[in-house]
Amino acid sequence: MSEKDQVLSEAMNFLEYAKILGVSEVTRQPPKLELHNEELSKTRNLEEISKVIGDCKRCKLCSDRTNIVFGVGNKNADLMFIGEGPGRDEDAQGVPFVGRAGQLLTKIIEAMKISRDDVYIANIVKCRPPGNRNPEPDEVTACMPFLIRQAQLIKPKVIVCLGSVASQNLLGVETKITSLRGNFTSWQNIPVMPTYHPAFLLRNPNMKKPVWEDMQKVMEKLGVSPA
Ligand code: URA
Repeated sequence: MSEKDQVLSEAMNFLEYAKILGVSEVTRQPPKLELHNEELSKTRNLEEISKVIGDCKRCKLCSDRTNIVFGVGNKNADLMFIGEGPGRDEDAQGVPFVGRAGQLLTKIIEAMKISRDDVYIANIVKCRPPGNRNPEPDEVTACMPFLIRQAQLIKPKVIVCLGSVASQNLLGVETKITSLRGNFTSWQNIPVMPTYHPAFLLRNPNMKKPVWEDMQKVMEKLGVSPA
């Protein structure tokens, strides 16, 4: 048996044992903060983070991008939305959530009696994955420290993760979005509400209802009263 097969077999035995003990789910560790990157941990505002990012070439997404999509909104926002990564429109304009899915997100925010300018919106990766594919693990690893620092400086009262890529990467889990959505979890002491991505809602309008239920929980947490 090769060394790799040996390790796999031991891991399988361990998981079987854990299952007998009642463990039903094994999660990855949450992404490392990587703020041992001294330059990043010293940043005091979003402009400084942007300067550290510079003309980023830390992952392969740099080769096809038009613009780095840093994030947009109120730097003191109570509410932060995190999406997956820029699409074509966002790449062209350098602003997150400006395409069709973005317009729907804006409608959702406004239905919450909040202005889009009052929230902060960013993505797991800041450069467009080609063909709108999901960001790959090395791309997420390269980019997430900047998002983490943005969240640390903004200090929102609630984070909403839009879709499975945002939810799974921020929370460091592989749980399906159907199970995650609708329940608050915590990330760095900030309540996180995973919900469906607006692009998914465009394809599945009947899923707008559960998203609205999730947003009502967010409004309650923020103390925003419905109309
Ligand atoms: N989808 C995302 O996840 N992010 C954007 O910025 C646009 C579309």
